[in-house]
Amino acid sequence: MMYEVIADYPELSQSFNRAMTQTARMSAKSIADFGDFARFTTVADIGGGRGQLIGEIVRRHPHLRGILFDLPHVTKDAPELLASLGVADRVTVMSGNFWDGLPAGADAYLFHRVFGSVDDHQVAETLKQIHAEIGDQPHARLLIAEPILPPPNRFHPSRLADIDMMINFGGRLRTEADWKELLATAGLEFVSTLETDPMMTMLEARPATTGGLPAQPAVP
Ligand SMILES: C[S@@+](CC[C@H](N)C(=O)[O-])C[C@H]1O[C@@H](n2cnc3c(N)ncnc32)[C@H](O)[C@@H]1O
Repeated sequence: MMYEVIADYPELSQSFNRAMTQTARMSAKSIADFGDFARFTTVADIGGGRGQLIGEIVRRHPHLRGILFDLPHVTKDAPELLASLGVADRVTVMSGNFWDGLPAGADAYLFHRVFGSVDDHQVAETLKQIHAEIGDQPHARLLIAEPILPPPNRFHPSRLADIDMMINFGGRLRTEADWKELLATAGLEFVSTLETDPMMTMLEARPATTGGLPAQPAVP
């Protein structure tokens, strides 16, 4: 997997993570400004890099706690960045691989520029994990921030990024219809999209109000 390969090359990983932090600055401010984060108590930013986005969100909402989760070679640089934003005491930094499990205890799980590099099967598995974490709490949310493609045959600047994701990571960008289908496989349902800037959309999903988690066998 590309991110584990990057981790083996310290110089490459430093410059990749620095680039992510720089570019995250552009979308982080508008996501933090326009997203309705006041309704949550704990937001977990999964694959959150060095914490630029969760740092901005928590900085704007003094009641909010954050969890930053990413691979260890990325999170090692997070405490310094979070301290520079003045939120180190309200963001818990956790290192791990999200294929092995997600941190517990958040009422919003945020993925910013993460799923584009992941194929549909793996996305579906991760969505099931998220549903297992949030259960059927009606106010809990999955927030996916990345470009959402228009239907086929319509121009969008992110079509090139879609090809980039496919070639370099085996992933892809998705349309709203693609997301609705994937969410349904995990017992989640689409709520809304919010375009936070011309290149970034935040898609909101919640536990499905009909159906919910797949039925578990009854405990005798
Ligand atoms: C494109 S970067 C985006 C980083 C950050 N969300 C941002 O927008 O600046 C994708 C991030 O996902 C992290 N990531 C990828 N696979 C992961 C995994 N299996 N477990 C934890 N983090 C992962 C990478 O280390 C990287 O920081």
